Amino acid sequence: MCGIIGFTGSDDPFGALLDGLTLLEYRGYDSAGVALVNPSESGGIWRSRAAVRAQSIPELKAAADPPAARAGIGHTRWATHGAPTEKNAHPHLDCRGEVAVVHNGIIENYRELSASLVAGGHTLSSQTDTEVVAHLVEEELAGGAGLFEAVQRCSRRLRGDFALAIVSAGEPDLIVATRQTSPLIVGRAEGLGVVASDISALLETTRELYALEDGQVAAVGPGSVEVVDRDGQPLEPTPIRVSWGVQAARREGYEDFMSKEIHEQPRALADTLIGRVHDGLTEFEELALSDEELASIERVVVIACGSSYHAGYIGAASLEQWARIPAHAEIASEFRYRSPVLDGSTLVVAISQSGETVDTYHALREARRRGGRTLVITNVVDSLMAREADGVLYTRAGPEIGVASTKCHVAQILLVQLFALHLARIRRALPPEEAARLAGAIEALPGLVEEALGKAERYEKVAEELSGVNDVFFLGRNIGYPIALEGALKLKELAYVRAEAYAAGEMKHGPISLIDRHSVAVVVATRGPLWPKLLANIEELRARGATVVAVTDEGDAETAGLVELVLEVPPTEELLTPVVAVVPLQLLAYAVARERGNDVDRPRNLAKVVTVE
Ligand code: M6R
Repeated sequence: MCGIIGFTGSDDPFGALLDGLTLLEYRGYDSAGVALVNPSESGGIWRSRAAVRAQSIPELKAAADPPAARAGIGHTRWATHGAPTEKNAHPHLDCRGEVAVVHNGIIENYRELSASLVAGGHTLSSQTDTEVVAHLVEEELAGGAGLFEAVQRCSRRLRGDFALAIVSAGEPDLIVATRQTSPLIVGRAEGLGVVASDISALLETTRELYALEDGQVAAVGPGSVEVVDRDGQPLEPTPIRVSWGVQAARREGYEDFMSKEIHEQPRALADTLIGRVHDGLTEFEELALSDEELASIERVVVIACGSSYHAGYIGAASLEQWARIPAHAEIASEFRYRSPVLDGSTLVVAISQSGETVDTYHALREARRRGGRTLVITNVVDSLMAREADGVLYTRAGPEIGVASTKCHVAQILLVQLFALHLARIRRALPPEEAARLAGAIEALPGLVEEALGKAERYEKVAEELSGVNDVFFLGRNIGYPIALEGALKLKELAYVRAEAYAAGEMKHGPISLIDRHSVAVVVATRGPLWPKLLANIEELRARGATVVAVTDEGDAETAGLVELVLEVPPTEELLTPVVAVVPLQLLAYAVARERGNDVDRPRNLAKVVTVE
């Protein structure tokens, strides 16, 4: 949540900041702002801010007349403390307009700090938790410290999760950055220094990047990076491995990132498979957990949020069915606070596209604290969570920019299912020929997703029929249930349509009272063992007047004959259905959202990376 960018040593810091903000906007788009360090400006800091939802960057571009400067910081905001107004937009300044601060995260003790600053004569002009930092730095500078030292001292007074980039008029070439939990990257190139919350904003500038660790403070100058801990002890910064190409974070001819990413799914799956299946056997060379350690695991808990949770649910079901190990999935934000019982025989698998989601990150830390073994499945190399766990497996989907997860979601499912097969082999829970057959079926998934994408026009026709609906039920049984959950989440977040997912067997325990002739139900009715029961559930819905849309196996005339609309998908192994069956649901949500004029890459109220609780 929120994007941070900073450049020093640039001939056009304003242009560079706006370009960086455009690449970071997916992290939050309630407002945007930049500050340039310009000694000729009164106070020395020139600032421009705009708060026009998802349009602030063009506003900044159009309105601004930036002065000559060499350094600056920028921010794109997802509002937490204070409404999404220009006044609350970052950067925030101190009383004299000589210090500018951008911030990601939440400073939990800001009320207390603000009270003491006001008592000391400071005037705070926003409702944010961020502004206190500018005034704290102001005090330290007034006491004679340089900016680097001032930030070290201030950061010792802050509680909460934060990433901060700070400039001061007195040191026009310097950006000081620090963090606690919220990630922050610093880097250098010839004559240039950079700071960003996210690697995708820096891919075109430099590959010499370093991840700041908790509590570290960096002085970034033109061509230089110096890192210390909060007590000023020098440290070697941790280099970041950069595997993504520049073009990966561009739309490349697609109308939006979401359609690009939906169509990249076959490649994301194929890349995630590379080197991980040989002659029907799974192989995870990079896994730091040995076969012996994995063999000693007696229980698996999968933790994640949103779409990653749905992938985790599918992973847990696969672990139970194939590896015959007790497994369940939990919402990370709940797991952390319910005092879970864990020990060294429990493997906690955290799934997160970004590797940064604060709920999952803290749940992972809690799992470690309680003695669990940990494994992270993430798309971002060297992300916060990747650095926290005993083992890490990477999906190889490339950067996902659209706020709604698509290609990363399917890659997560594939990878956690491969891991389930791996554990099944280690535990000798499946006959080798059955494990090999399943591995072959997993290897066929990229092709099946390609086939499903070939039916996009037909799915769009179904979406046209549904464009006016405001209430949709998504139903499924067994492995169809998490597919229903994901379909409902996509429709909610993109099309702003109330969509509820239920295990189809639960309908009769209450929700069916909501069904009448205005109701629409999307039923995942592919031909698994529970298919006859789903047909009965469809009959129950139709008897009460509902319009039923069924996700069916290709050519399933029997189910098609029972329902109003059909979303056909190529058939596969029952447990592997989610990767294929989610495709029409993604395209359905996408088309309904477009039909309604919604911004599919930047749905309202959301941000790609959720770094607040
Ligand atoms: O980065 P993560 O996978 O940890 O993110 C988890 C959720 O925030 C994410 O899946 C969210 O639900 C998406 N908007 C779903 O499309």
